[in-house]
Amino acid sequence: MPDARADLARNRALWAMVNAQFTDEHAARAWTAEELTWGLFGVPERDLGVLGDVTGLDVIELGCGTAYLSAQLARRGARPVGLDLSPAQLASAARCQERFGPVFPLVEADAEAVPLRDASFDLVVSEYGASVWCDPERWVAESARLLRPGGRLVFLTNSVLATLCVPADEGFAQERLLRPQRGLRRVAWPGGGVEFHPGHGDWVRVLRANGFVVEALHELYAPADVETHEYYAIATAGWASRWPAEDLWAARLTRPSSGSGAYRSSPGRAGPPSGGGSAGRTRPPS
Ligand SMILES: C[S@@+](CC[C@H](N)C(=O)[O-])C[C@H]1O[C@@H](n2cnc3c(N)ncnc32)[C@H](O)[C@@H]1O
Repeated sequence: MPDARADLARNRALWAMVNAQFTDEHAARAWTAEELTWGLFGVPERDLGVLGDVTGLDVIELGCGTAYLSAQLARRGARPVGLDLSPAQLASAARCQERFGPVFPLVEADAEAVPLRDASFDLVVSEYGASVWCDPERWVAESARLLRPGGRLVFLTNSVLATLCVPADEGFAQERLLRPQRGLRRVAWPGGGVEFHPGHGDWVRVLRANGFVVEALHELYAPADVETHEYYAIATAGWASRWPAEDLWAARLTRPSSGSGAYRSSPGRAGPPSGGGSAGRTRPPS
């Protein structure tokens, strides 16, 4: 039986290491980017329109890392809260807030048990955060709890296909299937973190069980003329120009959840914080 607390500790340690190796340095570039893009190959949001107009929306980013996506949303008029398990990642986020602005609340917590009030957000986003590193049954239920009726959930994760094609130890996705999809869910990479990679059918089941309807599944390919990512060894640009390396989901909460129920009600939890920052196998971002 997997030990959830051991998984959490393993992932926290992994993300402290990745922060020292890459994300802290990369954060400045990401915070100052002019355009909002998605994923390893920078697919522009303007080509997808998955977020829509975020002006005035209360947004929570689950597994925000250095919180550059939240920063981009704040610049577009949203009121984001960044939540992450890793003090190291949040420290980078807080430094970027000081250097570049804007400042918004940062919360150190597990996205499977968020210490914030029910129905206090209009949009939940996760870019390779909870969407990869948390149990979908738990973090999707938390998203439903945190959203107001009609609120939206937008998340990016590795494609199912890429997950089937990456070698267990190291290296980029191959042109052949290296593991069965049947039974694929929790993946503990040797020497790396613990991730969750349900198939599309399982995602739809979990979303529906928690009161969401799926609005879109964008299967992201690498745009022409992009380079392979400098750090994350998941799929080369060549591979990703032929097969989708990433799945970007959009769903809307249409009714109260009838899902797992474990995190349904939380009367003692605080509302959104009002202050400033607090603060596989490393195949991240998966
Ligand atoms: C690839 S980063 C994604 C964040 C951001 N989009 C980025 O690229 O910097 C993954 C983040 O998920 C966080 N994470 C992992 N497990 C988590 C959990 N249980 N709760 C909250 N955050 C978690 C990690 O600490 C890490 O900062």
